[in-house]
Amino acid sequence: MQVLGIETSCDETGIALYDTERGLRAHALHSQVALHAAYGGVVPELASRDHVRRIVPLIEAVMREARTTLAAIDGIAYTQGPGLAGALLVGASVASALAMALDKPLLGVHHLEGHLLSPLLSADKPSFPFVALLVSGGHSQLFFVRGVGQYELLGDTFDDAAGEAFDKAAQLLGLQYPGGPALAQLARQGKSGVMRLPRPLIDAPHLHFSFSGLKTAVLTLVRQLQHEGRFDEQARADVALEFETAVVDVLAAKAFAALRQTQNRQLVVAGGVGANQSLRQRLFKEAAASGVRVYFPEMEFCTDNGAMIALVGALRMTQKARDYGFQVRPRWSLTELTAA
Ligand code: KG4
Ligand code: ZN
Repeated sequence: MQVLGIETSCDETGIALYDTERGLRAHALHSQVALHAAYGGVVPELASRDHVRRIVPLIEAVMREARTTLAAIDGIAYTQGPGLAGALLVGASVASALAMALDKPLLGVHHLEGHLLSPLLSADKPSFPFVALLVSGGHSQLFFVRGVGQYELLGDTFDDAAGEAFDKAAQLLGLQYPGGPALAQLARQGKSGVMRLPRPLIDAPHLHFSFSGLKTAVLTLVRQLQHEGRFDEQARADVALEFETAVVDVLAAKAFAALRQTQNRQLVVAGGVGANQSLRQRLFKEAAASGVRVYFPEMEFCTDNGAMIALVGALRMTQKARDYGFQVRPRWSLTELTAA
């Protein structure tokens, strides 16, 4: 079965073709980072307009790369939510129109299910059940994943998501959008142990997160350094490194606590923050020491992409009845999903 995947939930237009027998056939991505950089964040209306401009040429490019035609595909999957309503509507309308014109099955996919299962796109993939750490711009969650659609929420954030914390801390350090990668790059010049920030809830007897206090601590530290006339390039890098280490400390501690709680030995890390090298190195190191295997999606599938949507579409479409009615769900919790 060959499924076309369409992702337009935020600031990336992602298109891919996934084959249940041969794996990922082709994929293409257009990032709107340059478009939104001047505004310091994603401007929803500009995002929607850019998806309108890019979506059809990208579908054509994927078809060319896979050396196939739309007539030969078996179904179409699109991101139904959560995300920006206008942006989601672009993917939903194109997917629905194509499905109707080609008389193919159509399926709305949960964006986070895409992230959660994206490590299954790799050759070396986890088997069910596994623990998943989902860390994106909007989510910091731990799940126990028993199978497709069987997601038990073990921990969630009380306030900011990990990626959101990266973005806000980056802003306080005067870095450009997107903040996470910029902060990680600055942190490479930092000296460890110079600054000190809290590790919120690291010793709490539960698996929940809280990152807003850490953001406030960065603000207080930056103000203090400015007041003392010490907020130079090196100090900024030192704060960046301490912030990154604090987030990594908390994420690693909670992820391993979740593995112990579920008596599981496979950890999947998904979502944009999974692209963070420091998090990757820490988890690999701790995993090696404790007999756990860690699975990250390929770097290009950590952030938003069409491949993960095509994959989920293919996994779920096998027995699914066709449905041409479309809706988008800007707010949608992963725990509302069921297996079949
Ligand atoms: O999954 P994603 O692409 O979009 C959402 O669905 O949210 O995640 C984007 C988030 C942003 O907050 C971004 O700053 C963060 O992932 N991010 C990173 C890195 N790359 C992306 N955070 C830390 N280090 C990185 N290398
Ligand atoms: Zn995402």
